[in-house]
Amino acid sequence: MSKETDTKVVNNSTSDGSNVQYYTRQEIQAHNMSGDAWLIIHEKVYDITTFMEEHPGGEEVLLEQAGADATESFEDVGHSTDAREMLQQYYIGELHMDDREKESKKEVYVTTSEESRSWTTLFIPAIAVVLVGIMYRYYMMESKSS
Ligand code: HEM
Repeated sequence: MSKETDTKVVNNSTSDGSNVQYYTRQEIQAHNMSGDAWLIIHEKVYDITTFMEEHPGGEEVLLEQAGADATESFEDVGHSTDAREMLQQYYIGELHMDDREKESKKEVYVTTSEESRSWTTLFIPAIAVVLVGIMYRYYMMESKSS
């Protein structure tokens, strides 16, 4: 029983028990022609060779993206849920972990913007407190001299 679990972890298996295949961007890039076309969408790799002619949006757009990351263009078109489900038929593996640098960069940006936001939210009330303090001092001095 425990042996089975161990094997699953080591092999990084999917729910159906098969191994996940990882591909580098370099490997994927070689599949960039109409007779052999792969795409990366959301870090998953698809062999769309047999789908090219069937694509409702035309073969040409797919050929332009073949061998590359088509996530942005796929999302820009606003594909339907049906289109997203169709993707599963062509799934062959995952983008290699070493080639996923974009995602970690995005995380850094998010952290930075959140940090700067919390800075301004603290800074504005601090200025308000200082201003009120100055006004209060001025008011006290005025009332003393009169
Ligand atoms: C394997 C990946 C893809 C699948 C399974 C797919 C599937 C589909 C499907 C089913 C449609 C019909 C409309 C819908 O249901 O949303 C469609 C339309 C379209 N697709 Fe794709 N597509 C893929 C990749 C791409 C990529 C990478 C691009 C852009 C470079 C693209 C551009 C278009 C365009 C321009 C249309 C026509 C939209 C329209 O006329 O309203 N598709 N696609």
